[in-house]
Amino acid sequence: MAMDKILIEGGKRLEGTVRASGAKNAALPAMTAALLADGVTTIRNVPRLRDIQAMGDLLEILGCRFQMEEDVLRVDARGASSFEAPYDIVRKMRASIYVLGPLLARFGKARVSLPGGCSIGDRPIDLHVRGMRSLGARVELKHGYIVAEADSLRGAEVDLVGPRGSSVGATVNVLAAASLARGVTRILGAAKEPEVAEFARILQGMGARVEGAGTRTLTVEGVDRLEGGEFSIIPDRIEAGTFLMAAAITGGRVTVTGCVPSHMESTLEALKRANVQVEAEDDSVIAAGTAPIKPIELVTGPYPEFPTDMQAQITALLCLARGVSRLTDHIYPDRFIHVRELIRLGARITRIGAQVEIVGVDGLSGAPVMASDLRASAALVLAGLAAQGVTQVLRVYHIDRGYEQIERKLSSLGARIWREKE
Ligand code: UD1
Repeated sequence: MAMDKILIEGGKRLEGTVRASGAKNAALPAMTAALLADGVTTIRNVPRLRDIQAMGDLLEILGCRFQMEEDVLRVDARGASSFEAPYDIVRKMRASIYVLGPLLARFGKARVSLPGGCSIGDRPIDLHVRGMRSLGARVELKHGYIVAEADSLRGAEVDLVGPRGSSVGATVNVLAAASLARGVTRILGAAKEPEVAEFARILQGMGARVEGAGTRTLTVEGVDRLEGGEFSIIPDRIEAGTFLMAAAITGGRVTVTGCVPSHMESTLEALKRANVQVEAEDDSVIAAGTAPIKPIELVTGPYPEFPTDMQAQITALLCLARGVSRLTDHIYPDRFIHVRELIRLGARITRIGAQVEIVGVDGLSGAPVMASDLRASAALVLAGLAAQGVTQVLRVYHIDRGYEQIERKLSSLGARIWREKE
């Protein structure tokens, strides 16, 4: 694999307009829903990202036909023949586990590799297992795989409240499986993320009977079969939020268009508290970082609370606040690898358990840094935009998993950012 690095010459104020791409985290579950269809599923507004390609590869391994042209993707699942998601794919992209429910519903069997840990910490699967068992499946963990079997899935009451709140992935898996189960399923403690609500709507469009999308309790009445359909993916609230932070950290002014401001309320609220000027309109948000950044206290949580997927990026911003910020990530208490790298750029951050204390500094200075995961790399790019001199972000393939053409989009806002071979 060719290794790229991103170089940034910091200190340019970003100005202009940028459009949000479709949400990776809505597109991935939509692709797994296609596995349930007795037909072709067309998905529009899909971002061109490595994770999407990886999910496409997985669907092909499972026997589907997968095709992507521009931002339109087609999955024909009629020929699906395998029920095994191998380690080689799952270890690269944890969302592969979202095929567990669809495979079980379709084949009565599923073998999905255990994801193991990753650079953001432990990734347990107990809620997925509990969900499948509640629907009547036998589930075992054998030879590094989740092995699930059910002669027929039956609707039931499924409690998905976990130690860290709700789970996006477990909710998606249970929704998929329950759609083709016999009888009625009630999911308690469901995740309310917009991407989950979107998944429920897509299932409905395929003929599923789901009620309560976007709330804690979902009701699913199983049907005999689901059909393909045509869907368009919601905008990426995390990508959009990252561009707003790019405006803030460079003291610039950026309009993000094609987004859904109501999906981003906790992020907009945090930016406002940090003294960033934020204005939301129907489908766009303007952020201006004209005043000094103020320190804030912030805790991540399940939607609608502040997303863990924005934690690294706002950490970068708060490095330049006038005072001491405190940030706690209860969703992934080990998701702080970016901290060491930010310190290399001149940040003052100390970590105690799941909390970091960020003492604002007057400026950052460019240096080579190493990306460790998707959002961490975004944080390093943000820091680089504000740092004096040149910042090199190595292992940039992490960023290509989740940001479509980030250097092009940032260049169009006036950033000096480019890509080179490592
Ligand atoms: C999704 C997102 C990811 C985001 C995460 C949390 C996709 C493709 N990925 O991941 O970007 O960071 O939501 O918003 O949409 N948990 C358990 N047991 C389980 C499953 C999860 O305890 O069986 C815990 C997790 O460790 C975590 C919390 O529940 O603390 C939320 O995880 P979950 O919502 O499942 O994350 P993903 O669906 O993997």
